[in-house]
Amino acid sequence: MVPLTRVAVITGANKGIGYFIALQLAVSGLFTDVIIGCRDSSRGAIASEEIQQKISIGSSSSTKMHSLPLIIGNVQSHTDFCERLEQEFGSASVLVNNAGFAYKGSDPTPFNEQTKKTFETNYYGLVDFTEKMIPLLKKGKDPRIVNVASMAGKLKQLSSELQTKYTDEQLTIEQLNSLMKSFEKDVHDGVHRQNGWSSSNYGMSKLGVIAATKVFAREEPSISVNSCCPGYCDTDMTSNMGRRSPDDGAKNAVIPATMKNPPTGEHFADFDVSTW
Ligand SMILES: NC(=O)c1ccc[n+]([C@@H]2O[C@H](COP(=O)([O-])OP(=O)(O)OC[C@H]3O[C@@H](n4cnc5c(N)ncnc54)[C@H](OP(=O)(O)O)[C@@H]3O)[C@@H](O)[C@H]2O)c1
Repeated sequence: MVPLTRVAVITGANKGIGYFIALQLAVSGLFTDVIIGCRDSSRGAIASEEIQQKISIGSSSSTKMHSLPLIIGNVQSHTDFCERLEQEFGSASVLVNNAGFAYKGSDPTPFNEQTKKTFETNYYGLVDFTEKMIPLLKKGKDPRIVNVASMAGKLKQLSSELQTKYTDEQLTIEQLNSLMKSFEKDVHDGVHRQNGWSSSNYGMSKLGVIAATKVFAREEPSISVNSCCPGYCDTDMTSNMGRRSPDDGAKNAVIPATMKNPPTGEHFADFDVSTW
């Protein structure tokens, strides 16, 4: 049975780029409901109401906004969110994995602790939440996943030997998780640079997101799965140093989420398909 609803879910959308992704998807008129998954319920509710007001003033869209609690990296929260989504909406058509975290350059937390927390949200959390959302997406109309990665996730930060492993056409999520664990172990042992890994844990988390995008795209042919880089944006994450507005940055996720005949397994940057 074709669902009557067309639901878009955006993680971490109470501010920054995610807020504008939610606003642009709501204004598009392509969705009956747009749900923002936020870890702070009151800030989520405020953002949702604000977006609802903006669409009622500035567009003819009849999309309804909602905010549900979601902590990326907390598997119980992922399960609770998906159960509620299934009960209240039955399916989802678009998932934008936007929630992300980066330590400031001045943060004194040791590098291995930073790696653990960064990976928990940006990589393992995203992968687990996506796996839990896939059954709901398969029930949705024209299903799509867009993973917000970064230019920091470029493949060239790895040795050529590691590049070959990350781009293996047969790579599975389990094998990718093991590769990410190997990086963490080498960080813990202080040998990650000599073993060909990147010096950036944020970059490695986003490289993992791009690799996972390609695995999900191959394993789920009924879903269009793409990643994007929003560009260097003026948000809290960059201490407002970014040159691009979050409104413009959001378009890099909104394009693959809304375009006709979307590709799958591609990476978008600067508003078009790009290279890894
Ligand atoms: N800004 C850039 O220049 C840039 C460049 C490349 C890629 N990106 C990526 O773009 C995405 C959005 O970045 P942004 O610049 O908009 O960052 P931001 O302003 O710091 O916003 C991040 C959003 O993610 C949420 N979030 C973080 N960790 C979460 C968790 N564990 N569970 C649920 N929500 C969580 C935050 O919630 P709270 O408000 O509760 O903290 C916030 O809503 C991120 O994935 C980032 O890595 C950004």
